[in-house]
Amino acid sequence: MDNNKRPESMKRIDSLELANDFIKEQVKSVQEQVKDKKVLLALSGGVDSSVVAALLIKAIGKNLVCVHVNHGLLRKGEPEQVIEVFRNQMNANLVYVDAVDRFLDKLAGVYEPEKKRKIIGAEFIRVFEEEARKQDGIEFLAQGTIYPDILESGPVKAHHNVGGLPEDLKFELVEPLKFLFKDEVRVVGKALGLPDSMVYRQPFPGPGLGVRCLGAITRERLECVRESDAILREEFAKNGLEGKVWQYFTVVPDFKSVGVKDNKRTFEYPVILRAVNTVDAMTATVEDIPFALLQHITARITSEVKGVNRVLYDLTPKPCGTIEWE
Ligand code: XMP
Repeated sequence: MDNNKRPESMKRIDSLELANDFIKEQVKSVQEQVKDKKVLLALSGGVDSSVVAALLIKAIGKNLVCVHVNHGLLRKGEPEQVIEVFRNQMNANLVYVDAVDRFLDKLAGVYEPEKKRKIIGAEFIRVFEEEARKQDGIEFLAQGTIYPDILESGPVKAHHNVGGLPEDLKFELVEPLKFLFKDEVRVVGKALGLPDSMVYRQPFPGPGLGVRCLGAITRERLECVRESDAILREEFAKNGLEGKVWQYFTVVPDFKSVGVKDNKRTFEYPVILRAVNTVDAMTATVEDIPFALLQHITARITSEVKGVNRVLYDLTPKPCGTIEWE
C-alpha cells in the first residue's frame, strides 16, 4: 500500500460528527505509535500546526512538547494567542522562544528576497534544533503536513524547503493530518475546540511579515507593517469581509515620499494594501473593496501608524503580480 495515498474508503470530513470520529481514531493511533515517549512539535499558531497540537494534547497530554518560536515576523497578537490558547486554556507543555533579536540581527542589511527567506528558514531550523537538544527523551517529531503538501499541488508550502534538522535529530514522524484537505483540517480544529480566529485564519507565509517588509528589514518598518496589518484586519472583521476575502494584508516598501501633516512637511513610508481572492493561489483576483472603506482604512493608518504618510491599494491580479510582494 502507498503510505502517502489517501485511502479510498476515507470519508470526506464535512461535519463535526465525522471530525469527532476522525479524532477518536487518530488519538488511538497516535497513542499506539508513540506509547509513553515524547513528541516535539513546532507550533507556529497557523491552522495546521494548531490542529496537530490540539489533537496530540488530547492523545498524549504533556508528552507533547510544543515549541513556539517568535521570530519577530509574526502578526500583532499572534504569540500572545498561542500562549493563551495552548498554555492557559489547553494546559499544554509549551516552550515559548523569544528569538526576535536573533532573527532581526541576522536580517539586518539583507535586502534580497531569496536571501531573506533563506536566513529566516535556516535560523528557524537552528533555533528549533537548539530547543530540541534541550529536551530529554524526544523520539518523535509531529508535523502539520496535510494532503495538498503531499500532492505538491499548491505553491503555499512549496517555499518551505530550507533543509531540515540534522541527522542525529531525525525523529520518527507523527503526521495525523496527512490525508486531510484544508477544509477538513478546519472542521477537525472546530471539533477540537480551537477558536475560530485560529481555525479560519487566512494563509500566512512561513517567513511572515518578512516578505511584506520590503528590502532590508528594519524594526521601524516592521512595526509599520504589523500595525497597519492589524488595522486592516480589524476593519475587514468589522465590515463583514473576514472569512469572505481569501487573503489580505499590508506591505511597506523601503522608500519614503514627501507628505504633509499638521501643516508640516513629512518624509515617511507608504503602506500598500492587498486583498485577493483565489481558489488555489496559482491565480488571484483583487477584492472590490468599497471606496468608503478604503478611505476609512487610509485615514486610520495614516493617523494611527507612526512613520506612514500614504496608503495605496494594489489593483494587480495574479498574474501578472504575485500575491505577496517580497
Ligand atoms: P505568491 O506570492 O507566490 O503566493 O502568489 C501564493 C500563496 O503562497 C503564500 N506564501 C507562502 N506560504 N510559506 C507559506 O507557507 C511561504 O514561504 C510562502 N510564501 C508565499 C502566499 O501568502 C500566498 O497565499
